[in-house]
Amino acid sequence: MHTACFVDGAFVPARSGRTFAVRNPATDAEVAQVADGWLDDARAAVEAAARAFPAWKSIAAIERARHLRRLAELMHRDAERLADLCSQECGKPLAEARTEVAYAASFLEWYAEEGKRVYGETIPASDQAKRLLVLRRPCGVAAAITPWNFPIAMVTRKMGPALAAGCTQVVKPAEQTPLSALAIAALAAEAGLPAGVLNVVPGLDAASISDAFFDTLHVRHVSFTGSTEVGRILLRRSAEQVVRVSLELGGHAPFIVFDDADLDAAVAGAMASKFRNAGQTCVCANRFLVQRGIHDAFVERFTAAVAALKVGDGRADGTQVGPLIDDAGLRKAEAHVADALARGARATTGGTRARVEGCTDRFMRPTVLTGVTPAMTCFREETFGPVAPVCAFDSEGDALRLANDTPYGLAAYVFTKDGARIVRMSEELQYGIVGINDALPATAQAPFGGVKHSGLGREGGRQGIEEYLDLRYVSWRVG
Ligand code: SIN
Repeated sequence: MHTACFVDGAFVPARSGRTFAVRNPATDAEVAQVADGWLDDARAAVEAAARAFPAWKSIAAIERARHLRRLAELMHRDAERLADLCSQECGKPLAEARTEVAYAASFLEWYAEEGKRVYGETIPASDQAKRLLVLRRPCGVAAAITPWNFPIAMVTRKMGPALAAGCTQVVKPAEQTPLSALAIAALAAEAGLPAGVLNVVPGLDAASISDAFFDTLHVRHVSFTGSTEVGRILLRRSAEQVVRVSLELGGHAPFIVFDDADLDAAVAGAMASKFRNAGQTCVCANRFLVQRGIHDAFVERFTAAVAALKVGDGRADGTQVGPLIDDAGLRKAEAHVADALARGARATTGGTRARVEGCTDRFMRPTVLTGVTPAMTCFREETFGPVAPVCAFDSEGDALRLANDTPYGLAAYVFTKDGARIVRMSEELQYGIVGINDALPATAQAPFGGVKHSGLGREGGRQGIEEYLDLRYVSWRVG
């Protein structure tokens, strides 16, 4: 297991010599002591990335693609080890962690190809003695600040496009889950990635590490996945060096079920969207808007499916829902449930902590709340836990109004068979991602990101690589 900072192609201790404990949220067992990087370590990483940049951007895209593909192959080879590490760090069930490894590798595979299609343009000039060209050039060193809920995939979702574009990178992984990022760094070295192209600086003091991203002209792009609160701070800081930022921030996804929906598909979609990673993804359904005619049947089927979920240590056989990442996460989910119950909602299943033999008490029974109204906290704020609040609505207009009445706009889901309604909802929902009869829309080929307080920029798809490219206009007088 690699526990040191990865800088300039080598694993090195933090300059301070300090380390911090990474613990399994299910058991509190120490997984490892990890280097506690700080400003100086991050500066060294930025300098290494800046030194590596001229050579990396100059090699053919097809060569960069080989490196990315090789790294993806090694991730598949070591999938079981990576999945186990991921589950230990963030508590997610092993089955989900295995899916995450494949999802993570898909960003490298897809961008290995997309990097070959960074085409330029020629523009017809009005002066016949001139040729006007537009080049798309890698912007420089890219910094990535990644979250704990997808310790592997959020690293490669930022790394794939950055490295394919010809940028070099410094990653600051979440303090809860640095080991997965360091494992990727070790595989990158094995894949033959030149020193300095990828650097990883773990550490408890995220603010001091990110200082190193904003006190230099080398870093030309900062990508962050996490809370809206921290996103705002980074956006303010980006003004200092006029650095481009991509922000993938909080969500508050509505999951809308119309009377004409396929009930089986809606319930299966609700389960997949809500309980992935114990409800701790930015795109998890956060409130269920269910039309009155199908409401009771949906609640009955959904409740039965939720009550059957197996809660446990992510590494134990058959676990479907793991722990919350920490005590604060558990308390927040509990507070949302308590507030809803106090204001008249009813728990048709769950609503309390779950006891898991030999584990911490960070587990919550998967919960369905009915009779939820917009006055309740769970209807207004992201819960980030295994709680599914259900609110009945009458008309399509009501559903749209309820869905859009939030500062957030990451993902929304609609279950219906009506084609005209699908068009209207796709156009009128104020969200960056709309899943139509599809609860799992995220994929490497498509642009992922939000509007309003859910963020700026896109990851994935051909749009994702644009974030790392500067346009250069060349005016060439030929005669
Ligand atoms: C996230 O929660 O930020 C990522 C979710 C996904 O890629 O599906």
